[in-house]
Amino acid sequence: MANPTKVPFLDLVTPHKELEEELLAVVKKAFSNAGFIGGPMVEEFEREFARFCDAKYCVGVNSGTDALRFAFMASGIEPGDIVITVPHTFIATTEAISQAGGQIRFVDIHEQTYTLGPDKLREYIDKYCQFDAKSGRLIERGSKRRVAAVVPVHLYGQMADMDPIMELAAKYNFIVIEDACQAHGAEYFSKKANAWRKAGSIGKAAAFSFYPGKNLGACGEGGAITTNDEAMAQRMKMIRDHGQAKKYYHDVEGYNGRLDSIQAGWLSVKLRHLAHWNESRRALAHRYHELLAEAKDSIVVPVEAAWTKGVYHLYVVRVPNREALQAALAEAGIGTGIHYPIPLHLQKAYEHLGYQKGAFPVTERVASEIVSLPMFPQMTTAQQDEVAQKVEEFLDAKVAATL
Ligand SMILES: Cc1ncc(COP(=O)(O)O)c(C=O)c1O
Repeated sequence: MANPTKVPFLDLVTPHKELEEELLAVVKKAFSNAGFIGGPMVEEFEREFARFCDAKYCVGVNSGTDALRFAFMASGIEPGDIVITVPHTFIATTEAISQAGGQIRFVDIHEQTYTLGPDKLREYIDKYCQFDAKSGRLIERGSKRRVAAVVPVHLYGQMADMDPIMELAAKYNFIVIEDACQAHGAEYFSKKANAWRKAGSIGKAAAFSFYPGKNLGACGEGGAITTNDEAMAQRMKMIRDHGQAKKYYHDVEGYNGRLDSIQAGWLSVKLRHLAHWNESRRALAHRYHELLAEAKDSIVVPVEAAWTKGVYHLYVVRVPNREALQAALAEAGIGTGIHYPIPLHLQKAYEHLGYQKGAFPVTERVASEIVSLPMFPQMTTAQQDEVAQKVEEFLDAKVAATL
């Protein structure tokens, strides 16, 4: 039988205990005027989160999935347009593409960062597309459809290599929507701008999730879109509210996709702690790197590319026998996860896309080897030592068994 939990995969109880008074004050405030939908708490959070992301506008919505879907709808993606992303992401990325009327195409990830590989994107364009100078559209030759957008996913809190992706977007006239659902506060060094840029400030728009376990998590569902495009922000505000800018005047059909005021108030409280929580995640990640350095021949630790300051939403390692490692850690009372075990192109939901096993070898290899170790800002060094020691014991035993 497994030991009682010594190190949870994620501790959501401690931060809520620490902030209990402030969080309860938000509820009292909402009760005092029964302002549960929209209003000052939502607007205040939107202003603060836009500032945090160095973006001009923020639109609070009901989830990261809504954020992606509304961003696609408001950016002019038309039914049948092609939207390219990676198969190594959570299914919400592609659900939102289909639900906005887009056709999903995948390109493989970069082996070190697990994010969209700009070379893979260039290869797809060169091999399968043609730029029609007259219409200014990039057309996929086989289907004759327009490639309207690319969605880099800043997975695990590490940013995709955005300069070359933005360069291709400018050259071929498609838009870039960042999936920043795991990357609140992550930064990218743009050689082009010679400056650090925040996740959510580079693409045409970016989607964030505030699912409770995220770096900035609500106490329930929540999400937001950031953009520097005012017209797009206005369209997304309409889409989240049944297509209306004025009550009962519906310009388009929309959704009920608003962010609750109490969630916005809670997010404002937590946002004040996000920078130091992210610092704590970064310090823990660097300490994990050091603790696991001796086992470097049998484990691959996360690589922080020179272009990123990652915020370690997850600390994901690679080992050849990850189920056995997970079992050994569970036996020692240590929680783990797999993000994600089955690449999207091999999911039943996407059989109709016609991708075969072997289509994206990097994604497939990575998906079969990854394990996410415990990572949360309040993790103690004693807890971390315990994890590292058990991982090393497991790897040593494996090495000994092969001698
Ligand atoms: C990469 C990615 N995209 C999109 C989402 C969807 O966010 P939500 O669960 O808030 O709808 C998530 C959340 O898990 C995610 O990790």
